[in-house]
Amino acid sequence: MGFIEEIKRRRTFAIISHPDAGKTTLTEKLLLFGGAIHVAGAVKSNKIKKTATSDFMEIEKQRGISVATSVMGFEYNGCKVNILDTPGHQDFAEDTFRTLTAVDSVIIVIDAAKGVEMQTRKLMEVCRMRSTPVMVFVNKLDRPSHDPFDLLDEIEKELSIKVRPLSWPIGNGDLFKGVYNIYEHNLYLFQPSRQTVQEGVAIADIADPSLDEQIGKSQAATLRDELDLINGVYPEFDKEQYLKGELAPVFFGSALNNFGVRELLHCFLQIAPSPQPSQTETRTVCPEEEKFSGFVFKIHANMDPNHRNRIAFVKVCSGKFERNKTYHHVQLNKDMKFSSPTAFMADKKSIIDEAYPGDIVGIPDSGNFKISDSLSEGEQLVFKGIPSFSPELFRYIENDDPMKSKQLAKGIDQLMDEGVAQLFVNQFNGRKIIGTVGALQFEVIQYRLLHEYNAACRYEPIALYKACWIESDDAAQLDDFKKRKQQYMAKDKWGRDVFLAESGYMLQMAQEGFKNIRFHFTSEF
Ligand code: G4P
Repeated sequence: MGFIEEIKRRRTFAIISHPDAGKTTLTEKLLLFGGAIHVAGAVKSNKIKKTATSDFMEIEKQRGISVATSVMGFEYNGCKVNILDTPGHQDFAEDTFRTLTAVDSVIIVIDAAKGVEMQTRKLMEVCRMRSTPVMVFVNKLDRPSHDPFDLLDEIEKELSIKVRPLSWPIGNGDLFKGVYNIYEHNLYLFQPSRQTVQEGVAIADIADPSLDEQIGKSQAATLRDELDLINGVYPEFDKEQYLKGELAPVFFGSALNNFGVRELLHCFLQIAPSPQPSQTETRTVCPEEEKFSGFVFKIHANMDPNHRNRIAFVKVCSGKFERNKTYHHVQLNKDMKFSSPTAFMADKKSIIDEAYPGDIVGIPDSGNFKISDSLSEGEQLVFKGIPSFSPELFRYIENDDPMKSKQLAKGIDQLMDEGVAQLFVNQFNGRKIIGTVGALQFEVIQYRLLHEYNAACRYEPIALYKACWIESDDAAQLDDFKKRKQQYMAKDKWGRDVFLAESGYMLQMAQEGFKNIRFHFTSEF
């Protein structure tokens, strides 16, 4: 197969949801369809079980397991599908945000009884920032659900995106009979099945009287009425709008019972984008370019304390990646060769000789990589779109063992490279501040510093509301601001200026008092 065909047949995406909506279950069903696994329950995803939230050792163990399932690749109908797993736990939201920088589209799973939940809203904001094409799967129709029209309205309103149903549920709860495929104009009445993928009864035409026999006169009449209504209310599906991230096709089903998953997958493979161009600070990189380039969007530490190896996940952006070929590590200005790059197929990891745009390559790393680093064939490419977000929680981090200050500094440095949390150094008193999205990370950092770096740390409270990256074209005002607020000025890992606002009020006052300064809540602007 030619290089261009290899690119065109790739679909790299993430499934995102509020915890418990059914992301893991849907992932597993897609893998079953793809033949990548053969029994349900085979996927140990990044999911961190609720019961484990207070036990971070258990979490780390689960995170260790999840290396293999961070990317799940499979072949289906001539396509190479790459699913990037994201941690469901909201304390690891930053991981999820970064994973979204490496995908070309997203499937959002929504619980039909709960509607749009908080985490879904947040993740959608990230998709919107990047205009990522989004598909929605409304799950758990086998349970009593909200009315599908109400759900569509809610999605449209809460996620600020236009919607167009491309499948439609026949009943819900005990009366759930299956879904009508609006996209392909056919109907499969599935038998509920948790283990295998079964073919259902195919009905090609909605007017077919056998529909009345199969699902009963009343449900058949309702289905016909509702389909009429849909076609009256919603304009024809417009693929271009979907590809621009303006319109979300919506599917209904029950992942657990294999209802509606096939409709979703078939349509997804047809309409979802193949690998898209990537932005760098200097130019746009197209996947079809001959020369290889890629960036690190995730680093996963190996939990084995005897081998402090990590895996850097590189998204191939252009050209063909080849094993044992020399590439340029842009940020280190160093040429490197990789003898054992890995690819991920379902729950297996294997050494690969080559990879194409859209693929994710796992590179064993002993500390050379940090998040957002890039590899190229020599060009100084710095990929954009891998921002840090202002953390929600802050604490001072202090050395608890004066004999081990070097180890502590190294440990903090490497954990920050992995993107476990963000470090800010207060320019006034030199104290280090760790900022995280969730409380769990503080425990994870403390635990890992001790076990992997033999360094002890303790935390001290700090009252902070937000860390904002600041910039201005008015150098005098910026200088004045930094002088007046020197107690609250910090530097991030890259040496950029960050204003630490103690409260919403303080931030507002700063914004009002210094009109020429721009305050940003993400590190990329
Ligand atoms: P997540 O990754 O989004 O957090 O969700 P996950 O797939 O783990 O699903 C959360 C729970 O919802 C699981 O039950 C799962 O079995 C159930 N579920 C998923 N899809 C459906 C569906 O279509 N219908 C119904 N009725 N339930 C569904 P659990 O009890 O938390 O876990 P488990 O013991 O079943 O694994």
